[in-house]
Amino acid sequence: MTAQLSKKSEAWSARFSEPVSDLVKRYTASVFFDQRLAQFDIEGSLAHAEMLCATGIINQTDYTEIQRGMTQIRAEIDAGQFEWLLDLEDVHLNIEKRLTELVGDAGKRLHTGRSRNDQVATDIRLYLRAAIDDITALLQAFRLALLDLAEQHADTIMPGFTHMQVAQPITFGHHMLAYVEMFSRDAERMADCRKRVNRLPLGAAALAGTTFPIDRERVAKTLGFDAVCRNSLDAVSDRDFAIEFCAAAALVMTHISRMSEELVIWMSPRVGFIDIADRFCTGSSIMPQKKNPDVPELARGKTGRVNGHLIALLTLMKGQPLAYNKDNQEDKEPLFDTVDTLTDTLRIFADMATGITVKADTMRAAALQGFATATDLADYLVKKGLPFRDAHEAVARAVRTCVDRGCDLTDLTLDELRTFSGLVESDIFAVLTLEGSVAARDHIGGTAPNQVKAAIAHARQQLR
Ligand code: ARG
Repeated sequence: MTAQLSKKSEAWSARFSEPVSDLVKRYTASVFFDQRLAQFDIEGSLAHAEMLCATGIINQTDYTEIQRGMTQIRAEIDAGQFEWLLDLEDVHLNIEKRLTELVGDAGKRLHTGRSRNDQVATDIRLYLRAAIDDITALLQAFRLALLDLAEQHADTIMPGFTHMQVAQPITFGHHMLAYVEMFSRDAERMADCRKRVNRLPLGAAALAGTTFPIDRERVAKTLGFDAVCRNSLDAVSDRDFAIEFCAAAALVMTHISRMSEELVIWMSPRVGFIDIADRFCTGSSIMPQKKNPDVPELARGKTGRVNGHLIALLTLMKGQPLAYNKDNQEDKEPLFDTVDTLTDTLRIFADMATGITVKADTMRAAALQGFATATDLADYLVKKGLPFRDAHEAVARAVRTCVDRGCDLTDLTLDELRTFSGLVESDIFAVLTLEGSVAARDHIGGTAPNQVKAAIAHARQQLR
């Protein structure tokens, strides 16, 4: 983003006897980063001008001129020909000044009944609403990709872990569905946040409202806001909607980071559960054999900066008295970077989900180690009448014996198994298989392949 120092304009008004230094100018300006609000600033200005005309505050000729000027400004910005001037501080003054250059007095009338305070609050809300809509679509695409992966592997068995220790067999499809749940809640949070973003500050003016007979409801309707902010001081000063968005974004990134951690572990040759398509990995400049999972690693790292932005905005807000303070200009970079980071990450992950190769044999071999079906043996004994705590103890003794001998529970003979509990019969061997274990967890939310398939169908229904 660029903006130049210019001699062309004298931005200080009659109130001041000297200009600010170049350093202060640079320090106080936001045009380097808030130019990205330009299209929303123009949209907001046009809605404001339409209302000023409809209420008779400006005349039709002025409104038509403002429309004409804004059309040209839009074209200039789109073509990269708009000259952003540091002297004009921010996106709002740059556009207004250019408008006045183009259409004269009509341009000077645009700011009637308005302040940059309610103007910037409106711009950010318009920007964030659009960003949330993009993110919502990306969360949807990502979940659909995860559902495809889950569907391909509804029967693929892997070890499930707690404490990073083999716990019980699960299906890879079930594991992917856990993430689908997380990202579904993230989408709900975004939808909920959008409701509070989608209210109109314009009309609050600097802080107290305006003496002109404005029609705020009309502007809200034009801009697609659900309602107007009902207190002018609050409208210009609070940024809780942006903080809330950053909190929701931090949670999305946190979920992505957890998944990334797993992808990195799974792709380690030591584990070898998956491979990730080459287009998401890079090599090493020194070690020719390396293929590194850069994308998940970077996503895990970028989660830190998104979490940081949340704290930045909370801290920005906490010490501010009502109403608007210039502190709020600092809301933009953390917010923009949060949107950019989250948007890029989701776009890449939706694609990467299609580039994950599952190594089912390795997963299965891992599930066969670590006594993953010990709980099934205990449950078996319980079903034969043994109290669960006693069953737990009997199986613990059996596992201990296997550890000493270096074998699996299924390597024990029926007679050997019966030394731990006389309730064991020959049907135990079907219970101790991986397939038997997962199939037995046959209820909503369980890992049985038919439940996984039902959960996929349910999730697809919800996504429609
Ligand atoms: N650039 C400012 C911001 O981002 C716009 C509002 C400035 N208002 C003011 N009274 N200086 O918050």
